[in-house]
Amino acid sequence: MLYKFFRFFLFQFDPEIIHEGVIFLLSLPPVQWLLKLLYDFHDVRLEKNCGGLRFKNPVGMAAGFDKNAKALLGLQALGFGFIEVGTVTPRPQQGNPKPRILRFEKEEALVNWLGFNNDGIAQVVERLKKVKPKMKIPVGLNIGKNKETPLEKAVDDYVICIEKANPTVDFFVINISSPNTPELRKLAEPLFLEGLLSRVQRVSRHPVWVKLSPDTFGNTSDRHLEEIVRLCEQYQVSALVATNTTTDYTLLPTAGLSQGGISGRPLEIKSTRILKALKSKISSQTMLVGVGGILSTKDALEKINAGADLIELYTGLIFKGPKLIQKIKQKLL
Ligand SMILES: Cc1cc2nc3c(=O)[nH]c(=O)nc-3n(C[C@H](O)[C@H](O)[C@H](O)COP(=O)(O)O)c2cc1C
Repeated sequence: MLYKFFRFFLFQFDPEIIHEGVIFLLSLPPVQWLLKLLYDFHDVRLEKNCGGLRFKNPVGMAAGFDKNAKALLGLQALGFGFIEVGTVTPRPQQGNPKPRILRFEKEEALVNWLGFNNDGIAQVVERLKKVKPKMKIPVGLNIGKNKETPLEKAVDDYVICIEKANPTVDFFVINISSPNTPELRKLAEPLFLEGLLSRVQRVSRHPVWVKLSPDTFGNTSDRHLEEIVRLCEQYQVSALVATNTTTDYTLLPTAGLSQGGISGRPLEIKSTRILKALKSKISSQTMLVGVGGILSTKDALEKINAGADLIELYTGLIFKGPKLIQKIKQKLL
């Protein structure tokens, strides 16, 4: 109720301006203290050991919210069980011209074409170094390539980020699925993926997760999904994250979109379908992380019933507020 009132005020402004304000607030110690008091509840039954890590609970903050590791303590205070920072690239980049996030209130959806705006790996690692000792939950770094890096050199970008961040994070997420960096999704093609995974696993000192697109696999390209699973398992990827945003604009027909990735309610069915398909193909060693359209406890349970070991959310936090994290944890108990 309180958040609904708060949201009415927030939704009067451009989403990115509000986002920057929220990140700033989350970085303030008094705000962190208050949020912890209001939202952070814990029960040992929520703890989970999987993929070589100990999670405080299975509800994580999805990538893209805290791209630059500025709000980690605030997010921890909200009661998340783990956090993905990023996407981070080797060099800082501004991303696409603004405005680049649209909000669809009735449809409970966001559309973004940010284009990996981030401070670059060096600055993000500096921040991580300072904050990491205070983190009681696993922190992962979601990494990508710079816009101008050609596809043939993309692997170098991932390796640079991993080498720099190795001492300061708990796991890496290889992003080959954001729709807003030209050609990035081509890295999911077996030829590129094999080269990428083999190099990444040689340098990473932590579990490696791979984040997948919901659009690469239709009913006809089931073989492609199988090939991806096969390669990920061959190179000991510890988790598959399903999914990133979608460019299937038929899911938001009134919006007249020609760019960007859709998140939130319209993505839910599609990303859960990918999750189920993955579940039927993976071995028991590989974890699944379900993300896409979790806006209620029911959505969260659907992901878990579809095979997710862990779940993540982003758009649900914007539309439902931090209480959603608490409600999901209570439902899980
Ligand atoms: C504004 C915005 C920015 C995002 N940026 C990233 C990103 O940098 N890297 C990434 O892997 N995913 C990014 N995502 C995708 C989310 O991590 C998530 O996979 C997707 O939004 C689906 O989950 P949701 O429906 O709970 O939002 C972004 C999503 C939004 C809404």
